[in-house]
Amino acid sequence: MASSAAASQAPAPAPPGLKEGIAGLYDESSGLWESIWGDHMHHGFYDSGEAASMADHRRAQIRMIEEALAFAAVPADDPEKQPKTVVDVGCGIGGSSRYLAKKYGAQCKGITLSPVQAERGNALAAAQGLSDQSTGNSNINRYRNVCFQPGVMGQVSLQVADALEQPFPDGHFDLVWSMESGEHMPDKRKFVSELARVAAPGGTIIIVTWCHRNLEPSETSLKPDEVSLLKRICDAYYLPDWCSPSDYVSIAKSLSLEDIKTADWSENVAPFWPAVIKSALTWKGITSLLTSGWKTIRGAMVMPLMIQGYKKGLIKFTIITCRKPGAA
Ligand SMILES: C[S@@+](CC[C@H](N)C(=O)[O-])C[C@H]1O[C@@H](n2cnc3c(N)ncnc32)[C@H](O)[C@@H]1O
Repeated sequence: MASSAAASQAPAPAPPGLKEGIAGLYDESSGLWESIWGDHMHHGFYDSGEAASMADHRRAQIRMIEEALAFAAVPADDPEKQPKTVVDVGCGIGGSSRYLAKKYGAQCKGITLSPVQAERGNALAAAQGLSDQSTGNSNINRYRNVCFQPGVMGQVSLQVADALEQPFPDGHFDLVWSMESGEHMPDKRKFVSELARVAAPGGTIIIVTWCHRNLEPSETSLKPDEVSLLKRICDAYYLPDWCSPSDYVSIAKSLSLEDIKTADWSENVAPFWPAVIKSALTWKGITSLLTSGWKTIRGAMVMPLMIQGYKKGLIKFTIITCRKPGAA
């Protein structure tokens, strides 16, 4: 458990009830998270020594999105080259979906296992004039024909669906975005191949995820104390076996993806978990936690283990980007 699901090996079978557990965790905890942290359920990106107030942390979460786009070299200035179709895989309540739809005027589809998240995210999109209902355009098949103009609002639609069996046709999305959902996927190869399948030819794939450290050439697995630490985190957050950054690179190479790049952003996210713990220890945090449910409370109890994992160099906050071959 919680060791390397190497790219070349068959994945361990998904723990029974994993999908239901993930859905239940986010059904239960998303309202609490949103009330304290807003609509992004991901780490912030910081310069060293940065961050003091909650506003700084929220800015850091937006910065995470911008850093990921810049790392993947998604065109910043040329509207013609910017993505017009986006899929947000493991979308939470759609914070990234709405951000990307607004930034690019793009059509964005999000998928999550949590019905509560999909419903809440669609309500937020409607309230912001980004939904099918709010614009009267509900036809996904018109995606490729949308005439993009700078300043035009995009559209966002979230649904419950499994990232490992995405309900989208092949070759559809200019930008395939997975912000902190990969760690939940029991079969990393299937996960990346689905991302590649739905990407349009020349489309960009961005995966930002939790990995364990790369193994040394002399190692065949993590050390027992490392496995045991990850197991406690996995049990609380409904995570299957982890893999390393090099496992992701091997998978991407084996799928003939191009321009594969990766970086370790563990130092850039260091202030995040201490801030989450601090927010949980406020009066609002404690009272909300006590009324939220056991899954959320158990998740809060293992937060210090995430800090420990980063400090030991065991947990690596990783970005992997690549491009599907073909015309851009
Ligand atoms: C930590 S949240 C990240 C949410 C969002 N990306 C963000 O940055 O705000 C993890 C998300 O992954 C989703 N997820 C986990 N496993 C999934 C799967 N197999 N298929 C679809 N979504 C999944 C969860 O439902 C949840 O929405």
